[in-house]
Amino acid sequence: MSAGILASEQLMSFSSIIDTALSQQRELLYAPDQRKSDKPLRPFSVREVSHALKVKYNSLRQYLNAFEGMPAGTLESGNRKFFSAEEINQIQEVLYREGKIGPERYPRRQQGDKQARLVVYNLKGGVSKTSLSVNLAQFLALRGYRILAVDLDPQASFSDMFDIQADLDGQPSVYDVLRYADPATGEGPIPITDAIQATYVPNIDIVPGSMAMTEFEYETSASFRQNGDGTPFHRRITDALDLVDDYYDLVLFDTPPHMSFAVISAVFAATGMLIPLSAGMLDVVSLAKFLELAASTMQVVEQHQDKRYDFIRFVLTRYSASDPAQLQLSSFLRSHLGGAMLKHDFVSSTAIADAGNTMNPLLELDPGSFHRKTYDRIFDSLSGIADEVDAEILRAWNRTPFEREDS
Ligand SMILES: Nc1ncnc2c1ncn2[C@@H]1O[C@H](COP(=O)(O)OP(=O)(O)OP(=O)(O)O)[C@@H](O)[C@H]1O
Ligand SMILES: [Mg+2]
Repeated sequence: MSAGILASEQLMSFSSIIDTALSQQRELLYAPDQRKSDKPLRPFSVREVSHALKVKYNSLRQYLNAFEGMPAGTLESGNRKFFSAEEINQIQEVLYREGKIGPERYPRRQQGDKQARLVVYNLKGGVSKTSLSVNLAQFLALRGYRILAVDLDPQASFSDMFDIQADLDGQPSVYDVLRYADPATGEGPIPITDAIQATYVPNIDIVPGSMAMTEFEYETSASFRQNGDGTPFHRRITDALDLVDDYYDLVLFDTPPHMSFAVISAVFAATGMLIPLSAGMLDVVSLAKFLELAASTMQVVEQHQDKRYDFIRFVLTRYSASDPAQLQLSSFLRSHLGGAMLKHDFVSSTAIADAGNTMNPLLELDPGSFHRKTYDRIFDSLSGIADEVDAEILRAWNRTPFEREDS
């Protein structure tokens, strides 16, 4: 055996070099006491509010003056009124109270509605799981869903997008919630409420991701041998969520691009599944193989309990209709998968690609800094996807989803 530094120590030292460099970079990017999360979401125009709340523009303008309890908003350039995300929620409350919108446009659970739990799932890397989850969460939050996002990827990129870095900041993560009791120290899991963090987006809370999730995998394997700590792995997420069942309308899982016990546990907890298919990377043979694998995973889960999802939907991501190969693929999938494919694609957009570097989801970008058409194209794509997912959740709650008319 060669003397000198152990490979594990060497790798660990690289890891701390990168950690330090990242913290420094973050400090440069956001001056010392100023982090991205200190800033609220940008304010929205009356037209954007009317879109989010699915209320006609002219009606909304009238309601804003007619009802008590409406927020004042702020006047900006050209005397136009803008509303913060909190104010949009406030407007929605007033409209609901005044009977101007019904449960089909007020996505709060009512007695008997079960919590919607959506897993964004594909074992392939880079198919837009995280970009889709983050943008979907923000669109749905603006529409009034109270959302808990659970970041199961050890890379924690979903949490990063909200400027939540549990590992760097020494905060509890999803690992602490799901972990097994350590027989040596007696240390056990913490209640999920101790790990939840609010974000700068009203209605979105996060259970942050962490590198430590790789430990969960080892511990689960060990638990098969030890027969210890009661709750089997597939129930751990479901059971942890019990505590917050009343507080959220939607739980959203972002998953890593590999099969893991954590992913199976999320698949078990879920009531719906969204499978992003990246048009550029996709070949139909590997899709069939993936679905076969997914089905056998499901069978493992179903040995414990039958699972019936409210919906399983596919969505094409990074889609570019100007590429003939992608166009062909999309019509092939549509003709075979039919209604299981969302009508709206997550179009390929430099606005989103660049967001990967600057960590800004669409609603955090200034529409004025884009060509109008560029912004509208990606907005319509994401908003359309949000509408379709929204409709699936409402149907699961036995409500007839509201059909948009252009206002
Ligand atoms: N619609 C899009 N248009 C252009 N680029 C996109 C789009 N969606 C995602 N990307 C870019 O593709 C890359 C991968 O996206 P993302 O991280 O969302 O995928 P993922 O499936 O979560 O990846 P992983 O499997 O590593 O978790 C990112 O750099 C992202 O900015
Ligand atoms: Mg990801």
